[in-house]
Amino acid sequence: MARVSVPFTEGHYYGEEKRPNTELAHNSLLACRRERNRKVEVADDMLGKQNNNDNNFQYICNSDQISPGQSASFTINDEGGSNKIALAVFNLDGVFYAISDVCIHKGGPLSKGTIKDNVVTCPWHGWKYSVKDGRSAHKGGDSVSSYPVKVLEGKVYVSPIPQAVGKKISKPHAAYQELDGAVKQHIRNTESSQVLPFNRDGATLRILGISTTNMNDKITPRKSTSESALEFALQYAKDKYSAETVMLKLRQLNIRHCEGYYSKDAKACIFPCSISEMDEEDQMIEIYDRVIIWADVVIVATPIRWGSASSLYYQMIQRMNCVQNQIITHNNYLIRDKVGAFIITGGQDNVQHVAGELLSFWSQLGFVFGKFPFTGWSRGWYAEDTENNVSDNAKSLAFRQDIMKTINGAIEMSRLIKKSRYDEKILNNSKPPSSLLPIRD
Ligand code: FES
Repeated sequence: MARVSVPFTEGHYYGEEKRPNTELAHNSLLACRRERNRKVEVADDMLGKQNNNDNNFQYICNSDQISPGQSASFTINDEGGSNKIALAVFNLDGVFYAISDVCIHKGGPLSKGTIKDNVVTCPWHGWKYSVKDGRSAHKGGDSVSSYPVKVLEGKVYVSPIPQAVGKKISKPHAAYQELDGAVKQHIRNTESSQVLPFNRDGATLRILGISTTNMNDKITPRKSTSESALEFALQYAKDKYSAETVMLKLRQLNIRHCEGYYSKDAKACIFPCSISEMDEEDQMIEIYDRVIIWADVVIVATPIRWGSASSLYYQMIQRMNCVQNQIITHNNYLIRDKVGAFIITGGQDNVQHVAGELLSFWSQLGFVFGKFPFTGWSRGWYAEDTENNVSDNAKSLAFRQDIMKTINGAIEMSRLIKKSRYDEKILNNSKPPSSLLPIRD
């Protein structure tokens, strides 16, 4: 029945000091073992003077199977016997405790958490619970169920009748909830429409520009080739197509770095990102909203920094992993009927390399591309007079013409996919049989 046993802290038992001397350490261990045994007996005494005639208690393991400072996961039958209860069982200094193994936030396995001061921290996003009663130490006061434990003759028993029932009380902040609801509504609307209007609600075509260059606007603002080119592109779309345009400048948004929850467990990477849920100041919500809901066409402009896109670009797309990951974990396609395009400028070179990387990521998100999906501009390897980049770029008629082609291609593609319901056709024709569905909660 036991699946895993994980040390809470690296080699550290409660009440035990680490000693460099081997003999001392050995004596100390013996003393600790004696002390632990005594405590287990005391616990037996306190809880188990009763006997196990109480049919509710179910055997889970022998007490020496979970060392002090460790935990393990078990399943027991519920009271009716038809459902399973996943338990995280902890041995704290010889006394055993059981709480639900399922974090009330998003289901992280509490038996794999870390513990400090009788509090276990969920390995997924860091919510905390008392090992003793399942109450949360975090803001909002959510809790998980806790279960009575008794130890009889070296055997651990748990009752499926909780001594305290877990409750979810806290709610994400308003902007997070709004985004979550709006994205769901947007997907429902998109799926139910036979033909998507090219101009929605009588409004104009919507084009989002994302400028990824970094500079200190307050102290040393400067002209940027990529951003100037993006301004030109948006103005062109406005003039020629009466498009509604918005430019987001990443340097003016407070975007926290990705914390790699996906690497802990694919299901720990949730949408909207848990970082936005936990941090009201995080403005990645603005990007999710504009990219997933608002825009018909997204144009990303980046300078080339040592052969790659800008660092702010990477900071943004790492936080978009959760958008792509929804496809893997929930078969949920958030990007519908969207066209992407790119503007890449560099004083030297590597335009194709950067374009390849950008195309690869945005195509994985679910974007489609028109003819000439990127415009690149470079002055070549020996152009060390980088102070002339902006003026040289402004004089380049070929570059302006290429941007116009990219915009025309993107807008025409937007028209085609909406009219033909291209995305829906592809998604509906590619539904896997249920036996092949990927990981789900
Ligand atoms: S903190 Fe436990 S699942 Fe998010």
